[in-house]
Amino acid sequence: MNQTTPQLTRTDAAWLDAHWMPFTGNREFKAHPRMLVAAEGIYYTDAEGKKILDGLSGLWCTGLGHGRREIVEAISRQAATIDYAPSFQYGHPASFALANKIKELTPDGLDYVFFTTSGSDAVETALKIARAYWRARGQGTKTRLIGREKGYHGVNFGGISVGGLGPNRKAFGQGVEAAHLPHTQMAQHDKAHAFTRGMPQRGAELADELLKLIALHDASNIAAVIVEPFAGSAGVVIPPAGYLQRLREICTANNILLIFDEVITGFGRCGAYTGAAAFGVTPDLMTIAKQVTNGTQPLGAVVAKKDIYDAFMATGGPEYMVELFHGYTYSAHPIACAAGVAALDLLVQEKAIERVAGLAPYFENAIHSLKGAKHVTDIRNFGLAAGRTLAPAPGEPARRPFEVAMKCLASGLYARYGGDTIQIAPPFIIEKPEIDRLVSILGDALDATA
Ligand SMILES: Cc1ncc(COP(=O)(O)O)c(C=O)c1O
Repeated sequence: MNQTTPQLTRTDAAWLDAHWMPFTGNREFKAHPRMLVAAEGIYYTDAEGKKILDGLSGLWCTGLGHGRREIVEAISRQAATIDYAPSFQYGHPASFALANKIKELTPDGLDYVFFTTSGSDAVETALKIARAYWRARGQGTKTRLIGREKGYHGVNFGGISVGGLGPNRKAFGQGVEAAHLPHTQMAQHDKAHAFTRGMPQRGAELADELLKLIALHDASNIAAVIVEPFAGSAGVVIPPAGYLQRLREICTANNILLIFDEVITGFGRCGAYTGAAAFGVTPDLMTIAKQVTNGTQPLGAVVAKKDIYDAFMATGGPEYMVELFHGYTYSAHPIACAAGVAALDLLVQEKAIERVAGLAPYFENAIHSLKGAKHVTDIRNFGLAAGRTLAPAPGEPARRPFEVAMKCLASGLYARYGGDTIQIAPPFIIEKPEIDRLVSILGDALDATA
């Protein structure tokens, strides 16, 4: 099934023009197209037939590697059996199979799975469930949402409102009422924390800032706090030891729901099935996407505690009535669900979690060997994820990461650049010599960048 022979593709400007590409410098791309035409294992193939090491597992979503036969076959079987089925008022077996698998792999108590089509939709769904939950409980004033600086929760209005990345918010006007906790990128609070390996040992007190927001807005007006267990898109920002526990305590004490956005941390990246399991804290709602289908099909979900599900069932009116007026045409799409079942089965069978946990110390050492490399002011890591902050070029903080990533690509490595960071999150199936190669290409690219 794998397409190992590069397809001939057109790269002339007129043909490229029609696709307005997402989160892309369209003008630059169309002048210098980077076309990926095939993928297998941990490598992409570009239009010239060159192998490119996949240093970010696609977009944090293909941990099991590309072209996995079991997933491809499940997709193909499902498409041939029932290509689409409405998930409003009718059902099909694949969604129940996937919901049960997700229930098994997420922490005890997170037992009800609401399917969406992406991570952004999962976030919107979780925020809406949080507000509607309090209303169902007779506390309809609890509507305010609290996110965190540097948080990334997708691109819809709720998500950018609780999100904490300026460029993702500034062009889009008024959002949803939200407040923000301080970020936990510790080197920006105190330079002494730069190059911390794994979890910072200091900084848990940043969670107490939530008490100030509660004093300001009052818990009777706050529905939920949403955070990523570790923030990926901001450049891998790790929670200090005890920080998530403290957030949990404050939320519980003040009747505020805690949402973990696990779109990146879910299903392997942390060396555990979830960030919740890795950090030992269970939220009330969890959003997932990406790795659920190993990136092969668009699918997201919200996983909710029983108490939340029950509140909707108890106040839903007659049994034939809809309890939550929310859902997408492609919620629980049969092909995406079949891909999810196959991908999660593989994750378990191949002991991917143990593999990530086993490789993490090697990866940490390899990545931190770049301490002292040109331009690098901080390195952060957890599981198989790492972020590097680069000193800004004068007046253009985003330029160097872009230039480094382009040099990496020329040497056969796909690395993601964003803001002043370079992010690395290789597939779970990577081997140690490939980690070494990745780090060596990255080091050379940093050296060669002005
Ligand atoms: C934590 C988090 N939430 C939400 C999203 C949005 O997911 P999607 O791009 O599938 O809408 C992402 C995507 O990177 C993410 O990292």
